[in-house]
Amino acid sequence: MLDSIKRFVNPASSSKSTEEIMSKIMKAPLPQHIAIIMDGNGRWAKKRGLPRTAGHAAGMIRVREVIRAADELGIKVLTLYSFSTENWKRPKQEVEYLMKLPIQFLKTDLQELVDRNVRVQMLGDLSAIPPTTRSALHEFVERTQNNSGLIVNFAINYGARDEIMSAIHQLIDDVHSGKITKDQLDESFFHQYLLTRGLPDPDLVIRTSGEIRISNFLLWQIAYSELWFTEVLWPDFSKRLLYQAIDEFQNRSRRYGAVK
Ligand code: FPP
Repeated sequence: MLDSIKRFVNPASSSKSTEEIMSKIMKAPLPQHIAIIMDGNGRWAKKRGLPRTAGHAAGMIRVREVIRAADELGIKVLTLYSFSTENWKRPKQEVEYLMKLPIQFLKTDLQELVDRNVRVQMLGDLSAIPPTTRSALHEFVERTQNNSGLIVNFAINYGARDEIMSAIHQLIDDVHSGKITKDQLDESFFHQYLLTRGLPDPDLVIRTSGEIRISNFLLWQIAYSELWFTEVLWPDFSKRLLYQAIDEFQNRSRRYGAVK
């Protein structure tokens, strides 16, 4: 199914040990910003005869692993698509479970993130999130706001079209109130109205589970990102796969529409 994609995977990395791939990728420029669509939790659980929620619990373990790996590599920004504006359509019990995960993650992982100098940010409309979950999310942000290391963005109740529409509304208000003029508006100015203001655009987007689509994720920001797909389901993702994705990224030729 993914044959056309697989031919791009760098075969050289598959025979190497995880440590060898890591030391190889550390010698070349790393992506500054990696964004991940963590997909396949439900299928992972189904394959094991478990409820879908068990897949999300297993997915949390990979969230921890990928944060640690990105921090150890010295990546600047990691954005994790954790709950989309469309995910509310899932069964009530599953949504409730997903909303409990940040509360649990706070108990188990906040101190480690503080110790690692990780700064946590949220992308998305938190006003619709249940109050106890929302306060856990705020606590992540507040307790890590002065940290200067890896920035981890959790995209929660996030949708790129929503983000772009909100930016346009705010811009129109600012033009009407005279705060800005239409002439000031260019791409970099527009970027300041997005939730990722101040951050570099993703260099690399990873999606697990074999789905080859973007699903309303960072539509403006990924205009020139390199895309990397794997059939591995999110709960089976590993730091080795992260290294492989980076290894392949480093072998791509980014031309931004120009000729090299
Ligand atoms: C997609 O798999 C996954 C999600 C919608 C949720 C991802 C969330 C986490 C891994 C935990 C996030 C953690 C925090 C702290 C916010 P799916 O359920 O769509 O899988 P399927 O396509 O196989 O059904």
